[in-house]
Amino acid sequence: MPERAALVTGASSGIGFAIARVLGEEGHGLTLAARRPEKLAEAADTLRSDGFDVEHVAANLADEEEIRRVVAAHRERWGRLDVLVNNAGVGIAQLVADIEAKRVDLQLGVNVRSVILFYRECADLLRAAGAEHRNALVVNTSSLSGKSGQAWLNVYSATKAAVIGWTQAMNSELNSDGIKSVALCPGFVDTAMTEFIREHVAQEDMIKTADIAEAVRFLLRTSPQCVVPEIVFQRASESAL
Ligand SMILES: NC(=O)c1ccc[n+]([C@@H]2O[C@H](COP(=O)([O-])OP(=O)(O)OC[C@H]3O[C@@H](n4cnc5c(N)ncnc54)[C@H](OP(=O)(O)O)[C@@H]3O)[C@@H](O)[C@H]2O)c1
Repeated sequence: MPERAALVTGASSGIGFAIARVLGEEGHGLTLAARRPEKLAEAADTLRSDGFDVEHVAANLADEEEIRRVVAAHRERWGRLDVLVNNAGVGIAQLVADIEAKRVDLQLGVNVRSVILFYRECADLLRAAGAEHRNALVVNTSSLSGKSGQAWLNVYSATKAAVIGWTQAMNSELNSDGIKSVALCPGFVDTAMTEFIREHVAQEDMIKTADIAEAVRFLLRTSPQCVVPEIVFQRASESAL
């Protein structure tokens, strides 16, 4: 049984999958959650075949009961939670005049509401880890568009700005319990989510998922006294912006 445990949402591909791998390498038992069962099972099997201890739970994280089910499965399997990664997200591009309420609700539900509810459901486990080693960690995947709102990605930008505000609030509420929160704010990362932009932004010019995952490895190493509230990743070609 690993000495530490992590729960990663949106772990079936892209950034979440890369972070899960690093957390496995760093000795954590893993619970992976994502929406599509077959894709998630495949990701979990890949990590198992690489020698990691993995639980996986397919769930629609826009649904409160599904979030409870994921946390219950994690609790049952590992009995502790040292690292929570709120990474599942969805982005829908629409001009303001065309915005549909159901698409607003979906982005708010997955990108913001689920983050809030995961904190609530995991608070006791995180507090127990914080009391034990003062270094419980919550990683929230925001976006560069949460720092500077983008045309078309208007609602998505607003949800990601909300994640930054929530992360700040959680640090002021939970740091004294040994729980540190960080918002990751990347520009374009080479994942399925950025397929739509590949004709304008070359894949090789995008940030790599492994670079984001390495930042999480760094966060595991910081001392209990050190809080890193936000990490911004820009593409080299944008670094003068
Ligand atoms: N790629 C970028 O340029 C970029 C930049 C900044 C921030 N981000 C953020 O990074 C995070 C990960 O995205 P990614 O780029 O790695 O894309 P990705 O490979 O498409 O991963 C998205 C993950 O979220 C899961 N997910 C989506 N909706 C869900 C729902 N309702 N319930 C449960 N899981 C759900 C997906 O599962 P299914 O595939 O089964 O739906 C998948 O595992 C997102 O929060 C995204 O907003 C991405």
